[in-house]
Amino acid sequence: MIKIWIRQLVFSRRRCCRFPTETVYGIGADATNASAVDKVFAAKNRPHDNPLIVTVSGPEMVDRFAKVDARAKKLMQTFWPGSLTLLLPLVDDQVLPKNVTAGLNTAAFRNPDSKVTRQLITLLNNPIVGPSANLSTKPSPTTAAHVLHDMDGRIDAVIDDGPSRVGVESTIVDLSVADPAILRPGAVSADQIAQVIGQKVIDPTSPIALSASSAPKAPGMKYRHYAPSKPVVIFDPLDKQELKDRLNETDAVVAYEQLLYFFGLPAYNSWSLGATPQTAAEELFSALRAFDDRQGIERIFVQSLAKKGIGEAYMNRLEKSAGGQHLSIQ
Ligand code: TXA
Ligand code: MG
Repeated sequence: MIKIWIRQLVFSRRRCCRFPTETVYGIGADATNASAVDKVFAAKNRPHDNPLIVTVSGPEMVDRFAKVDARAKKLMQTFWPGSLTLLLPLVDDQVLPKNVTAGLNTAAFRNPDSKVTRQLITLLNNPIVGPSANLSTKPSPTTAAHVLHDMDGRIDAVIDDGPSRVGVESTIVDLSVADPAILRPGAVSADQIAQVIGQKVIDPTSPIALSASSAPKAPGMKYRHYAPSKPVVIFDPLDKQELKDRLNETDAVVAYEQLLYFFGLPAYNSWSLGATPQTAAEELFSALRAFDDRQGIERIFVQSLAKKGIGEAYMNRLEKSAGGQHLSIQ
């Protein structure tokens, strides 16, 4: 059944569809077809200066479009399919439509750990663009229901493959330059990448990287993002008593299960992040979306995590959602 559905999507080349990946759901269109790609920008309300990820069925598909050096080969062998996106120089500036790359001479290649999505690309025999399937500025979708919430009426179909396992978008590493750098943290860490390529990888949380440039190289990272329409406030678990004293019935708390017991809130006002940084990353966008829609909730308090491993990706998304609001500075 799903195969038939995929075939229909593949052969209607000018359309866009939503597809699952292990990180978040994406919205797809043939990456070699400029007018199909334009529909993705329109469906998402995405600014045209923000380039799209190019989603491939495997390493061999990248060779048609980009220069793949030894470092990129090793990373593909180790982490693909999986949550690592590689920014690579294009073979020439005509090889992909200008709207995919926002006119840059690089593109970001991703090979998701989702069998159904890789099959879709194999059937098309072309890569598909793969931005997250949310309206621009909103939290990324980690279920097909989230996708429909934002996109019903704007897309042709959703392929429902269950909830996303990782919950935050892929790591993006820049390999178009001599000194590789993380452009967006995700499940694959700078240290893991450095180990495979035998080269230091600049990590955005390091003081050197922070002082080097204030304009992020991934254009998407400069936009307001992951933000519900209600205020999000970050709190440190060490400040739990202070938060408890301030809470009222219009506040929601998103925290580890153990920490939620301390607040003694009704289920209506609380959302469990499970017990590990992995489960927290998996739950974050669902929690933000749920409370954004829940009547009577006016503020969303979300706990911070240590910025290491997937905790770094979790905090990167949470800090953007909160737009700088922290309990300790209120
Ligand atoms: O996990 C993921 O990567 C998800 C799933 C759906 O595959 N996709 C995703 O795409 O997060 P999107 O469009 O939401 O984020 C892509 C990021 C943006 O920040 C964009 O600016 C950056 O990648 N990007 C894409 N092409 C680029 C390029 N040529 N140079 C610099 N940054 C680029
Ligand atoms: Mg996105």
